[in-house]
Amino acid sequence: MKIVNMELDFIKEMFNSIAPRYDFLNRLLSLRQDIYWRRTMITALNLPNNTAILDVACGTGDVLIEIFHQTNNQKLIIGADFAPEMLKVANTKLLKGDFSPKVQLIAGDGLHLPFAAHTFDAVTIAFGIRNIIDRKSALVSFFDCLKPGGKVAILELATPANKFFLSLYLFYFSRILPIIGAFFSKHLKAYDYLPASVINFPPPAEFAAIMKQAGFEGIIWRRLTMGIATVHIGQKPLTRISHEEN
Ligand SMILES: C[S@@+](CC[C@H](N)C(=O)[O-])C[C@H]1O[C@@H](n2cnc3c(N)ncnc32)[C@H](O)[C@@H]1O
Repeated sequence: MKIVNMELDFIKEMFNSIAPRYDFLNRLLSLRQDIYWRRTMITALNLPNNTAILDVACGTGDVLIEIFHQTNNQKLIIGADFAPEMLKVANTKLLKGDFSPKVQLIAGDGLHLPFAAHTFDAVTIAFGIRNIIDRKSALVSFFDCLKPGGKVAILELATPANKFFLSLYLFYFSRILPIIGAFFSKHLKAYDYLPASVINFPPPAEFAAIMKQAGFEGIIWRRLTMGIATVHIGQKPLTRISHEEN
């Protein structure tokens, strides 16, 4: 239990510290692919209007902004993150884009979401689940706050399947990216942690199995940019009641 808390504290401190340079580094280190990956995740959800959406680990708010770009007239949009400095950047960006009146930002842990069962039509999380050690519990908490028939979308960095590309990618990821990241972020450990967390993340089929254990069905996934990122979509069954009610 103590190890889990230490890990969470390290991750929170890291994101608080790199928050002002997070977007710049994301665009630079992914060669702007991160924008396309978030767009693909939201497109894959095929959100109708007038729904309630929760973005967990919303960080600086890029998924929330993408939701506004693709849909209009949503009933409720909430972004939750446990790093207040990331939320501050999100708030500034949402104000600038005139989106802020329609979004609520809350400081909270993705493992203990403060929402009633059956609240949301969709839950999204981009580049966040990798940081949560107890992935199944996080998925269960997403499942519980979804309405029956609601969808979860999970975007995460991954390692490419092609062996030749994988070796190039690992060289970039383990040797070059940490140097650029440390230089611009001024945080020595953050961009060392990034490759380690991606390499330790389960491959798509294994992650889909964890989603299934959490209760999701109709799970599909798509590899993006030669497998550097993966988006998983799953659905809460129409007939199943939440874990809380079991
Ligand atoms: C790599 S950033 C992703 C931010 C954003 N979703 C994006 O697309 O750029 C990961 C975010 O997850 C948040 N995070 C990590 N673990 C969390 C947890 N257990 N609960 C809430 N937020 C968490 C961090 O504070 C950080 O803002």
